[in-house]
Formats: sequence, structure tokens, C-alpha cells
Amino acid sequence: MVWFLYPVTSVLIVFSLASAEGLATDDADRKSTPIELFEQRIMPVFRSPKPSSCVQCHLASVDLKDYILPSHEQTFVSLRDEGLIDVKNPDASKILKLIEMGEKDLDRGARLIHARTRRAEYDAFAAWVKACCSDPKIRDLPSLKGFIPVHVRKPDRVIEFTRRNRVVDSFARNVWSQRMRCFPCHTPHELDESNLKHEKAIVRHKELEQKYGQRINIFRDTPETTLRHLMVSSRNPRTGRLPLINAADPAKSLLILKPTSKLPKKDTDGNFENPSHAEPVSHMGGLKIHVNDQSYKSFMAWIHDYSRVIGDQYASPDELPLDNWYPSMQVLRLKNVPENWEVLSSVQLFVHAWDDLEKSWQEQPVAFTQGTVTPRRMVNGALFLLASADAGVQDTWDREGSTLPTGRYLIKTYVDRSGRLDNDPAAFLTEADYFGQATVNDIWKEGFRDAKLLDGMLLKK
Ligand code: HEC
Ligand code: HEC
Repeated sequence: MVWFLYPVTSVLIVFSLASAEGLATDDADRKSTPIELFEQRIMPVFRSPKPSSCVQCHLASVDLKDYILPSHEQTFVSLRDEGLIDVKNPDASKILKLIEMGEKDLDRGARLIHARTRRAEYDAFAAWVKACCSDPKIRDLPSLKGFIPVHVRKPDRVIEFTRRNRVVDSFARNVWSQRMRCFPCHTPHELDESNLKHEKAIVRHKELEQKYGQRINIFRDTPETTLRHLMVSSRNPRTGRLPLINAADPAKSLLILKPTSKLPKKDTDGNFENPSHAEPVSHMGGLKIHVNDQSYKSFMAWIHDYSRVIGDQYASPDELPLDNWYPSMQVLRLKNVPENWEVLSSVQLFVHAWDDLEKSWQEQPVAFTQGTVTPRRMVNGALFLLASADAGVQDTWDREGSTLPTGRYLIKTYVDRSGRLDNDPAAFLTEADYFGQATVNDIWKEGFRDAKLLDGMLLKK
């Protein structure tokens, strides 16, 4: 991304220009009335089709526009009565503090992208708020009785949930954590020149980069930069090409369609046809994720949630998903699955821990995985650990991967017989889909080779 290449000097220039502008307008502001300031400086913010600087951190739910009403007086009175304007000390007004939030962002790239907009918003509001507060006729206007604001503020839980850092964290756990399934083709930062085992992979990746350019590098150096790449490239997809993330129709996102699609067909000379970026999609990497395996589930859950955030579709806290899945490297493998489980049907395996105090299995599962019945009648999947709000485990579990402690566990199995997951890929199956259970109790290492093997014959109701 270009902004990372900006030398420090040009950063200084951006800021010094902004403050020079500030000085010039300060002078003009002194001669303007509050109404003029509102019309000339605040209304342009309101009318602008571009999102306000708040988008740097809030992907939805709040926008500076929401704080502006078409009437100058109504805007002042509603901000004042909401406690966002401090009439005694206008410079300390909360509305100015909110606009200034962006300065504190540790992500320098993000800070710079929005610097100009933020500066303009700040200067406009600072001048207008000051002018209003020093004019007693406006400052002491009566409260708006029976007034219904055009904008009803979303609950704090929703504002928090739609913040960029929550979305990035969720992306890291649900998508970024699965990136080794895309190694080495899309993971330039996982290639290690000092590792002899990577020698071939490095050559292969170089070839792909030469052929396909930067778009082959889907996974960038961090979850933040990766998500930014996906968001930017999804904004204006070329015609005939689906976006990487399709907020309007999540299942039609290339991010999940590519790895669940097969290689392109071969032409009569035996060469692959060009890969397709529209339906039916084909993928030069071949089939890497199976529909309804555990990565498919976590990708789809994240894309759905992201789409709802971006579409500003969450209104109340009870609509928010739990978003509590943590990746792990521990694999569960069920063999000899029961005869009435059809090949390709989707199966969920839930892991319950033993409660020593209660001397019983905990009711809430601590982990789950999902997979489909293979032709060899197995079901495999790496676990996602489930954080529970009251256990506080989020503090110790890592978005890169965590491990269940050694111990006794109960595995409960559920089979999707009604196609529920087709309509709602992120869903958990319920008691109606329950099949049977079995216990496991020894040490459980990480990786597919050391998967915990469970015999389907042992499942009991
Ligand atoms: C640098 C990131 C960042 C920017 C930019 C930002 N916010 Fe926030 N915002 C936060 C964080 C972090 C919180 C939660 C912590 C807190 O309350 O201080 C928050 C909380 C909020 C809340 C809920 C709690 C409260 O303080 O009322 C509102 C409303 C809000 N922001 C509005 C805005 C508006 C409006 C803008 C743009 C003018 C904005 N924010 C810009 C990071 C940001
Ligand atoms: C063996 C190499 C290989 C692996 C592994 C691989 N891919 Fe690919 N992928 C490719 C190649 C080559 C292309 C470019 C040609 C194409 O579009 O099919 C590509 C293209 C893509 C694209 C389109 C990118 C764009 O902007 O045009 C997406 C999305 C994608 N892959 C997702 C994935 C995901 C997710 C995984 C891992 C779960 C994965 N791929 C695993 C080789 C691979």
C-alpha cells in the first residue's frame, strides 16, 4: 500500500499545511456568525457522500453526520443537551474529543489516510461550537420539547461491536488463522529463506507472483494489512469478476469460492483454460477447502458478520453473534462413522469438559469442529475453542491458536440431515440433530498426524 512508503518529511508537510490552513480560516471565522459557520462549514460535512473520519475505527453505527440536524439551532441544542458541547469550556467539548480520537490511532497508515478529513471536521466544529457558545442568544436556547431526533443513537454494545479492531480480531481468529491451508501460494510472509524445507515453495511462489502479480499475495504481513487489502480490492471489482468479499451476497465472495472450487478445465492441447473469477469459479490452486469443513465454517461466519457490520445492519445487542471462536491445532478424527450417515453429510463434533466440583460433564461445550463424511467414512476437523463470556478465557487464548488442557472430554456428535447449514453456514446444530456421544481421556497433541482418533462404533445415545 502506498501510504507505507511515504517518507517522514511528507507526513510533516501534510500536518503543517493543515495547521497553516487552520490559521487562515481562524481569521475568517472571527467575522462569521454561527449560522454562516454552520452553513459554510458544518453542512458540507453533512452533505458529503464520503463517510466521516470516524470510519477509521467505526466501520458502522456512528458517523459524524448523525450528530448534525438540518437546522443550525436544533443541532446546537441537541448536542448541548446530549452533553457533547461544553458551553463553559467549548474547547473541551466531547464532540471535539470524538473527532480527535483518530490522532491516537497506533496505526500510522490509518491515521494519515483520514488526517485531512479529520482536520477539516475538527476546524469546522471547533469554530462553530465556539461561536455558538459565545453568543448568549444561542447558548441559552431552551431545550427542544417533544423533539424526536432524526438519529437514534445505537446502543454502546453495538457501537463497540462494529468497531474496526473487533472486526480485525475476529478476522484474525476465523480467517487469518487458517492461512497455512493456502501455503505457499498466498502466504509470502510465511516463507522462510533460512528454512531448507521452504526452498521449493519459495521458487513456486516467485513464479506465481510473476504470473499473477500482487493479487496472489492474499495474506499480507498482519491481519490488519490483510483485511485492508481485502476491503480495498472488494470495493470496485472489475466487471466479470466477483469481489473477494461480497457484502451483498456473502456466499458469492471469491475468498471462499476460489478455495472451494476445482482447477479450470483443460483445452484440447491439455493446457488449463484461464481460471474463472465469475460463476462457475475455478481456482488454479485447486480444491483447498471443502464446503462445510471447519475453515469453510469460520470463513463464512466471518464474512456474514463483516457484511452485516458494513451494511450497518445490527440494531440491538441481541442481534450480535457471540464471535467467540478461537483457532487451535488440535484435530479430532472420527473413523467408522455410523452407517446411516451419508457420505458428504455435515457433522458437528462438540467437546465438553469434565466438571470436578459438580462431578458431571459441563453443559456448555469448550470446543467444536465440523466436517463432512468422507468416502472412507471418516470425519476430520481442527478444533475451534469456544470462549465463554464468564470464564474470562479470552485473556489467555490467542488469536493465533490455543490448546485445550489435558483431561477427560466428552464428544457429542450432531448430523445435519435437514440441510440447515446450507442456509446458515455459521449455525450450530441442535438437539434434533443429536446422534450420540463418547469419551476421550488422554494427552492430545497438535497437528493432523497426532489427531485424536475416535471410533464411531463407540458412540452411544
Ligand atoms: C482511533 C479510533 C477512533 C476514532 C477515529 C473514533 N472513535 Fe469513537 N471510539 C473509539 C473507541 C476505542 C471507543 C471505545 C472506548 C471509549 O469509549 O473511549 C469509541 C467509542 C465511541 C462511542 C461510544 C462511547 C462514547 O464515548 O460515547 C461513540 C458514540 C463514538 N466512539 C463516536 C465516535 C465518532 C462520532 C467519531 C468520529 C467523529 C469517532 N467515534 C471516532 C475509537 C475511535
Ligand atoms: C497451490 C497453490 C495455491 C493454494 C494452496 C491456494 N491457492 Fe488460491 N490461487 C492460486 C493461484 C495460482 C491463483 C491465481 C489464479 C486463479 O485466480 O485461480 C489463486 C487465486 C486465488 C484467489 C483469487 C485472488 C484474486 O484476487 O484474484 C483467491 C481468493 C484464492 N486463490 C483463495 C485461496 C485460499 C483462501 C486458499 C487457502 C484456503 C488458496 N487460495 C489456496 C493458487 C493457490
